[in-house]
Amino acid sequence: MLTIGNITLSIPCMLAPMAGVSDLPFRLITRSFGAPLAFTEMIDVSGLCHMDKRTRHMLSSTPDDRPLGIQLLANDAELIAKALGSLEKDTFDLLDLNAACPTPKITRKGKGAALLREPRKLRELLKVLVDRSTVPVTVKIRTGWDQDSINAPEIARHAEDAGISALFIHGRTKAQGYSGAVDYRVIREVKEAVKIPVIASGDNITAPLIKKMFDETGCNGVAIARGSLGNPWIFREAIQFLLGGVQCGRPGIDERITVMKDHLDLLFRHYGEKRGVGIFHKFFIWYTRGIQGTKPLRDRAFRTETRDGLISAIDELRTFDKADRGTFTA
Ligand SMILES: Cc1cc2nc3c(=O)[nH]c(=O)nc-3n(C[C@H](O)[C@H](O)[C@H](O)COP(=O)(O)O)c2cc1C
Repeated sequence: MLTIGNITLSIPCMLAPMAGVSDLPFRLITRSFGAPLAFTEMIDVSGLCHMDKRTRHMLSSTPDDRPLGIQLLANDAELIAKALGSLEKDTFDLLDLNAACPTPKITRKGKGAALLREPRKLRELLKVLVDRSTVPVTVKIRTGWDQDSINAPEIARHAEDAGISALFIHGRTKAQGYSGAVDYRVIREVKEAVKIPVIASGDNITAPLIKKMFDETGCNGVAIARGSLGNPWIFREAIQFLLGGVQCGRPGIDERITVMKDHLDLLFRHYGEKRGVGIFHKFFIWYTRGIQGTKPLRDRAFRTETRDGLISAIDELRTFDKADRGTFTA
């Protein structure tokens, strides 16, 4: 059980925010496997103030997509205040501020992980959010800017001071980006530095690694990111492993095909055929990762521009299962 403000989660494993991935269709797919909380991808507060079509799409949700966290990208208190006014009430349950994104395009503007270098400013931004928000506020940080400036425990104390309800930490520095070892020790130090729940991210890609994250850091919850790509059943696996120590097998081809078709269908309904098919291309690659011999099929799926074309490519996966039942190793 994990409580963040007024939100209680029966399972402490949630879907992490992922730009270009954690849209409504993907969130619904992961929720069907037990993800109790999910996030939108990061949304710049200036986009929220203008509420263009792209931002509206990123915000769209349905009643079965709750509780939902909106992740904000910001470095300006006034814009934050203005942006909050554009958000429709009762359509989300939590607001998270991104102080973790390492992309130079973002950090150059003083946003994302750049806020790790300005702990006081980060605290002020969080204070504005906490004062104005009607839902719990959280922040996502990294261990520090680089190996020589690890400051996550200090940042965490500032953030707690601002009144946030929980803290997310990706256990890598900004300089590491998405590779290199996760620093379990710093996550533990953060956990020991604050009283609010700490939710850890980084290499939560298998059930045993998720258990390792809990064991080594004492964290209250985990956010699952890359481990869910083409692998939304990781939530089911993690829950079974954490509850009973049982490592269940990966789904067979029939379930895989059903999930892929459901996902494609949700994309089609959300974006229409052209964009939905375009987005599914990368998911097709992820869903078929580790299935040997599928390269030609993947290449063909990648060139397919219609929903029917993709459905027939998905159905063709059955022939690989028949050819070699032992190949599903993703
Ligand atoms: C494609 C992709 C997009 C991401 N976008 C975001 C984002 O919008 N906001 C955010 O806080 N983190 C983002 N992340 C970081 C993840 O939430 C997560 O913290 C990171 O990938 C580490 O976890 P992992 O090693 O289990 O993947 C993204 C990661 C990936 C792979």
